[in-house]
Amino acid sequence: MSASDEKPPAGGQLRRIVPKLLASVLPLAMLLLWTIVALAVGGSSRPTALHVRDFVGSISVKSTVAGAVKLGGSGGGGGGRWISAYTVPNFTSTLLSRWLTPGGEPCRETLTAAVSIPAFDSSPASSPALLHAGELHELAFFALDESNRHRCLGGDYFEADLSGPQWKSRPPILDHGNGSYSLRLQIHSRFASPNSTFTLSIVLLFRRFDGLKLSTNRFAFRRELRRISIKFDPPSAAFPTLPNLQICRAGAGDFSGTAWSGRWTRLAGNDSCAVDRDGRYRCLPETVPCSPPWCGGGAPLAALESNGWVYSAHCAFRLFDQISAWRCLHGHWLLFWGDSNHVDTIRNLLTFVLGIADGDAIAAVTRRFDRRFVNPLNASESLRITNIFNGHWNETQNYLGLASLAHQPFRDLVRRYFDNPGGGAPDVVVLNSGLHDGVYWRSIRHFAQGAEFAAKFWEELLAGVRRWLPARAPRVFYRRTIAAGGYARELGFNPSKMEAFDGVFLEKLTARGAITGGVVDEFDMTFPWHYDNRCNDGVHYGRKPARARWRDGEIGHQYFVDLMLVHVLLNAFCNGW
Ligand SMILES: *[C@@H]1O[C@H](CO)[C@@H](O)[C@H](O)[C@H]1NC(C)=O
Ligand SMILES: *[C@@H]1O[C@H](CO)[C@@H](O)[C@H](O)[C@H]1NC(C)=O
Ligand SMILES: *[C@@H]1O[C@H](CO)[C@@H](O)[C@H](O)[C@H]1NC(C)=O
Ligand SMILES: *[C@@H]1O[C@H](CO)[C@@H](O)[C@H](O)[C@H]1NC(C)=O
Ligand SMILES: *[C@@H]1O[C@H](CO)[C@@H](O)[C@H](O)[C@H]1NC(C)=O
Ligand SMILES: *[C@@H]1O[C@H](CO)[C@@H](O)[C@H](O)[C@H]1NC(C)=O
Repeated sequence: MSASDEKPPAGGQLRRIVPKLLASVLPLAMLLLWTIVALAVGGSSRPTALHVRDFVGSISVKSTVAGAVKLGGSGGGGGGRWISAYTVPNFTSTLLSRWLTPGGEPCRETLTAAVSIPAFDSSPASSPALLHAGELHELAFFALDESNRHRCLGGDYFEADLSGPQWKSRPPILDHGNGSYSLRLQIHSRFASPNSTFTLSIVLLFRRFDGLKLSTNRFAFRRELRRISIKFDPPSAAFPTLPNLQICRAGAGDFSGTAWSGRWTRLAGNDSCAVDRDGRYRCLPETVPCSPPWCGGGAPLAALESNGWVYSAHCAFRLFDQISAWRCLHGHWLLFWGDSNHVDTIRNLLTFVLGIADGDAIAAVTRRFDRRFVNPLNASESLRITNIFNGHWNETQNYLGLASLAHQPFRDLVRRYFDNPGGGAPDVVVLNSGLHDGVYWRSIRHFAQGAEFAAKFWEELLAGVRRWLPARAPRVFYRRTIAAGGYARELGFNPSKMEAFDGVFLEKLTARGAITGGVVDEFDMTFPWHYDNRCNDGVHYGRKPARARWRDGEIGHQYFVDLMLVHVLLNAFCNGW
C-alpha cells in the first residue's frame, strides 16, 4: 500500500487521490446519515426485532420554561420508547466517502474548537437544565471553529457521557457529515430523584477523522468541550411510561441488532467496601437479588463483584449461577477467535461462574488452546472451549490482527476446527476484530480490504460446515471490541478507530451471512468506564483480581465489566439451546 492510504490533507493534494470511488459513492452517500455508533444489517437472513429499540420519528424542542430546557418526545400513545443506537445504512461506503471528502471552502478546512448546543445554550449556566425522565430527548449540536463559525464537514469524534449517582451511559451521537450532529438522552424515572443531578459531558477526542490515522497519539485533541448539569423530573402525565425491560431472548431477535445503547445502573452499594486480600471486591451480601427489570436470573447481584452496578440494554440480562450455567453449557463446544480480551473473558467464565479452580483455569487458558472442562460439582457435565488468538498468526507476537489470515498455516489452523466431520463443529463461535488491527492497517480503506478478506474466509468456512452438518451449523456472534481506556484512548487502537473498524467488519460479515447468532456490544458496555484506568489497564477489562498496584496507582482494580460480559455472552448462548 502506498503512503496515500493515510487520509490526504483536505484541499489541494486531494484531487490527485480522489478517484472513481468518490465519484461513484458520493451522490449516494450524500443521502445517508452516518454514524460510527451503528451500521446496516444488510443481507442478514435473521428477522430483525422491531419492538422497543426501533426508535423512529422526529423529536423536537417543545418549550423552554424559566431558563430550563424541556424537550419533548414523540409521545402519542403506544407506550414510551427506549433509547436505541443510530443505525446507518452502507456504513463502509458512507465512512469512506466522508473520509475522502475534499476541503476547499474555509468551513471545510478549519478545525473544531467548540460546540454549540442550542437546546442548552439558551439556559443560564448557573442552573441545571431540566428534562423529563422517561422521555427520549434528541438534540442537535454543531461544531464550531475557534472563531465560533460553523464548520460544514463532519468526522469529529466526540465522547459523550451521561452520569448520575446510580446511572452511567453513553448517549448515542449521529454525525450528519456537515458539521451538525444529533445526540440522544434518556433516563429512567426510577433513577431521577429530585435531589440527584446528572452530568452530560462531551469530550472532543479527535478532530476530522484523525483517530483513524495509523499513528494517532500526536493528533489526539482530548478536550472536554461541555459539562452540563441536568435534573430530571418525573415524566409528564401526558407522556406514556417506559415499558419494563424484558430478559433478552435470542428468539425475539434481541441479539440481532448491530449496536446497543445500554446503561449501567446501580441497584445497591456499600460505601465502605475495600479490596480484600485476594484483590476482590466482595461488597454486597449474597442476599441482594438482581432485581427485575434491570437484570434477572439465579445469581445474586453480588456475583458481579461490581458494588451494585449492572448493565442492561434494550433488554436485560440474566445472571447465571454455577448450576444454571453448567446446565446451559453442558455438552457444548464454544470457539473464540479474537484478541486477548477473550483470554480474560474465558478465564473469568471458568473461575467466577463455572467453579473451576483458579490455578487450573490459569494454566489452561492461554492465547491458543483447546480443552474440555468438567463441572467440579457434577462429573457428568462437561464443556469444550477453543480459543484462537487473532492478534498475530504467531501466538507470541502482536499487531497483525485480521492480516494474520494472510498466513496460510494460520488459516489451516482455524479451518481444522470446521472441516472435521468426525469431530463435530463448535456450537457457538465468538468473533472479534480487536485491538491489534488498530496498529496494523494504514487506513480505513486498507482495513476494509482486510475485513473483506476475513469475511470471505469465514463465509467459506461456515458454508463448508453447513454442507456436512446442516442441522447444527455454529451460531456465530460478533463481539464488538472494547473501548480502550485512560492513556490508551489516544493510541492506534483508540475508541474512534475501533468503533469504525467494528462497523466495517460487522457489515462485511453480515453481508456474507456469517453472523448467524448476532451481536454482543462490548463497546457500549465498556464505554462508560473507559475514561480512566480503574476498570481496565488500557486494553483489558477482565484482568485477574490481584491485591497489587494497578495502572492508576491504586491497590487492586475493578474487573466487573468483563464479568458482566461473561453473563451477557451466556444469555446469548443459552437462549438458543
Ligand atoms: C446501500 O448500497 C447498496 C448496494 O451498494 C444499494 O443498493 C443501496 O441502495 C444502498 N442503500 C442506501 C440506503 O443508500
Ligand atoms: C446537515 O445534514 C442534516 C441531515 O442531512 C440536515 O438535516 C441539516 O439541515 C444539514 N445542515 C446543514 C447546515 O446543512
Ligand atoms: C432531598 O434533599 C432534601 C434537603 O436536602 C431532603 O430533605 C430530602 O429528603 C431529599 N430527598 C430525597 C428523595 O433524597
Ligand atoms: C461492605 O464491604 C465490606 C468489605 O469491604 C464488608 O466487610 C461489609 O460487610 C460490607 N457491608 C455490607 C453492609 O455488606
Ligand atoms: C449431573 O448432570 C447430569 C447432566 O446434566 C444431570 O442429569 C444430573 O441430574 C446431575 N446430577 C446432579 C446430582 O445434579
Ligand atoms: C513465533 O515468534 C517467536 C518470537 O516471538 C519465535 O521465537 C518463534 O519461532 C515464532 N514461531 C513461529 C512458528 O514462527
